[in-house]
Amino acid sequence: MPLSLLLLLLLTCSMQATHFLGTVMTYDPKNTDANGSVTVVLRYKLNFHSCTVQLRWTCQSGNCGNDSVLLRTVDVESSGEWCQTEGISTRQVPSNAPFQLWLDGGNWITATVNGITSWRAIALVELRSRSDTGKANRSPQTTILPAIRVPSNCQRDFNLLAFDPDGDEVKCRYGNTSLLECNPCTPPSVLSLSSSCTLSFSPTSSSNEGPYAVQLVMEDFPRQTITLTQTDGLLTTITTNDTISKIPVQFVLRGNISCFESLVL
Ligand SMILES: *[C@@H]1O[C@H](CO)[C@@H](O)[C@H](O)[C@H]1NC(C)=O
Ligand SMILES: *[C@@H]1O[C@H](CO)[C@@H](O)[C@H](O)[C@H]1NC(C)=O
Ligand SMILES: *[C@@H]1O[C@H](CO)[C@@H](O)[C@H](O)[C@H]1NC(C)=O
Ligand SMILES: *[C@@H]1O[C@H](CO)[C@@H](O)[C@H](O)[C@H]1NC(C)=O
Ligand SMILES: *[C@@H]1O[C@H](CO)[C@@H](O)[C@H](O)[C@H]1NC(C)=O
Repeated sequence: MPLSLLLLLLLTCSMQATHFLGTVMTYDPKNTDANGSVTVVLRYKLNFHSCTVQLRWTCQSGNCGNDSVLLRTVDVESSGEWCQTEGISTRQVPSNAPFQLWLDGGNWITATVNGITSWRAIALVELRSRSDTGKANRSPQTTILPAIRVPSNCQRDFNLLAFDPDGDEVKCRYGNTSLLECNPCTPPSVLSLSSSCTLSFSPTSSSNEGPYAVQLVMEDFPRQTITLTQTDGLLTTITTNDTISKIPVQFVLRGNISCFESLVL
């Protein structure tokens, strides 16, 4: 194969890889071994223009151990606009100390109205033993539908599914750039978000048309003060004001003169 053709192919592939449309991650701890090592199953969805992108979450802080990943394609949009893949990562960490995994790179789909180019998403995995359940924390659970179309007058509230298997309070907020939750986190001007995870779409003028990158963080808070016990015996007190874990919820919302079409992926 001529070198120029090879370079063209490589360029084409890397350009497709730059069409990010969002992600979500949840986790569920499995067993703890006698030596203190913990196995946790992390499930994530990744939305790209192309099905061939295979992005790995990397360790941002703490000891993230090692993992093995199963990937499958969940859904492909018929016009070829997006492809959703699901990853199931079984991760083994040497202790139950908290750690953070992230995606950090680029790019989102071109010309997002809120000016987001680079992608960044982070999950805080808390596995210390909770005094109220005697077990490791489980993250909030959320299901994200491949495509949601909002009818034409478009003044509408949309409730994100937010369930916590430990019975914690779940709250949503926009990502915070200084907490490395997105890069940058500029929220869409046409959306407002309540802490109970309701997104409100407001009618827009034609100047607001186009795709918006929506970059949210979902967190669980205990309903009463609890303590977390680390493998080495260290105790930490968590009040109702403190986050236990956090997960990213990111997707594309499309603004249209008469209507919003959102891809909640
Ligand atoms: C702890 O035990 C697990 C399962 O037996 C093993 O895979 C892991 O390597 C051990 N970790 C250490 C730090 O010895
Ligand atoms: C992590 O690495 C250990 C030691 O190489 C291995 O025994 C274990 O199966 C790995 N765990 C995962 C989830 O990949
Ligand atoms: C973002 O996080 C920083 C560091 O915790 C905090 O000081 C700041 O108030 C946060 N910004 C917003 C908008 O919440
Ligand atoms: C939580 O924060 C509120 C508002 O800052 C404060 O009034 C309350 O005392 C805090 N609760 C705990 C348990 O720290
Ligand atoms: C706006 O929405 C309508 C109805 O879904 C669609 O036919 C049209 O192509 C959209 N316009 C743009 C610019 O996306």
